[in-house]
Amino acid sequence: MRHRRHLFVCTQTRPDGGKPSCGARGGVDLVAALQREVAARDELVGAVAVTPCGCLGPCFDGPNLVVYPEGDWLCGVSAADLPDLLGYLAGGALPARLRYDGLDDDQ
Ligand code: FES
Repeated sequence: MRHRRHLFVCTQTRPDGGKPSCGARGGVDLVAALQREVAARDELVGAVAVTPCGCLGPCFDGPNLVVYPEGDWLCGVSAADLPDLLGYLAGGALPARLRYDGLDDDQ
């Protein structure tokens, strides 16, 4: 099956006290919620894949995810962003507040 879009959601976890990790900041719950919501929408089932992944790099700004084929990076995504994110996946615009443009800042 060829998906129209593929989301990779960082679920990296690290011990407390060091560099932050998306998994500990909600990435694990986020990927589960995205998979559940995509599966519940006829327009997204089969068109969008959601896959957990390891560290994407900008750990201080997570939870992070990247969307292909566009190559859109999103940062600081939470469950509260799900309605806007699902709208984007259904063909809407990517909310500017979620777009990540600082890829060179903290890698
Ligand atoms: S832990 Fe998620 S980007 Fe590094």
